Amino acid sequence: MTSDQPQWVLATDIDNTLTGDEPALRELRQELDVMRRAGELFLILSTGRRLEDVLSGFEREGLPEPDAIIAQVGTEIYLPPFSSGIAPLAAWKERLQRDFSRGRALGFLDGIEGVEMQLPEFNTALKVSVFLDKAPDPHTAAERVVRRIEEADASGEHRVLWSSGRDLDIIPEAAGKGNAIRYLLEYLDLNPDRLIVAGDSGNDLSMFEAFPCGIVVANAQPELHILREAADSEHFFASAKCAGGVVEGLRHFGLLA
Ligand code: GLC
Ligand code: MG
Repeated sequence: MTSDQPQWVLATDIDNTLTGDEPALRELRQELDVMRRAGELFLILSTGRRLEDVLSGFEREGLPEPDAIIAQVGTEIYLPPFSSGIAPLAAWKERLQRDFSRGRALGFLDGIEGVEMQLPEFNTALKVSVFLDKAPDPHTAAERVVRRIEEADASGEHRVLWSSGRDLDIIPEAAGKGNAIRYLLEYLDLNPDRLIVAGDSGNDLSMFEAFPCGIVVANAQPELHILREAADSEHFFASAKCAGGVVEGLRHFGLLA
C-alpha cells in the first residue's frame, strides 16, 4: 500500500444487506462517510440493481455515497462522477462481451416450466434475468439450467446466479460481483491492507468466494449457508440483520471501533 491509498476497501451489496433497517443504515452511513472523508476507506456498492436505482437510493433510502458502483450483478462498473445515463467502464464491458451471447444464454431456459422474464431493464446484452418462483420446484429448475449449461460444455462462458428462491441470472462466466471487484482493484491499482465484502443472497456468493473476509448478515438467504463450511475463510456471521449486521461485522474486522 502506498501512503495515498485507502487502507480499507468495503464492497457491499445493497438490498437486504444495507437496506431493511433504517436507523442502522443511518449509523453505518455516518461512520463510512467519516472514513471516506479521511481517505481511509474506498467504498464499493456491489449490487443487482441498475445504476439509476442506486442513484435514486442516495436520497430515497439513505444509501452511502460510494467510490465505485458495480451494477447489474457485476456486469457493469461505474466510476464517479455518478449521474444517470453515464456509460459503464468500457474495458470491462468489452472483456465480458467477448465470450457471451444473450441468444445462446436464453436457449438454456427453453422449455423450463414456470420461467418468467424479468423487466426489460434488467435484461441486457450481458445479463439474462428471470423469475423462477412460479416453477413447480424452483430450486430444481435452477439446477436444471446449470446442468444444461454443463452438458452443452458451456460453463466456461456462462455463470448462473440463483438468489432468494426466485431470481435466476445467466451472465458471462467472467462477470459477477467477485470478478468485477478484482478487476476494479487492478484497474485503479488499489492495494488495500484489508478488503471486506458483505451480502445476503446468492448473487453475493462470488464475493465471498473471491475474498476471505466477508460479512454474512443474519437475514441471509439459505443459499449462503454453505459458507459456514468454507474452512479457509474468515467470514463473519452477524447476529444482527441488514445494516446492523454490517456494523457488527465491521467492528469484528476492526474497520469500526
Ligand atoms: C436484482 C436484479 C435482478 C437479479 C437479482 C438477483 O434484484 O435487479 O435482475 O435477478 O438482483 O441477482
Ligand atoms: Mg441483497
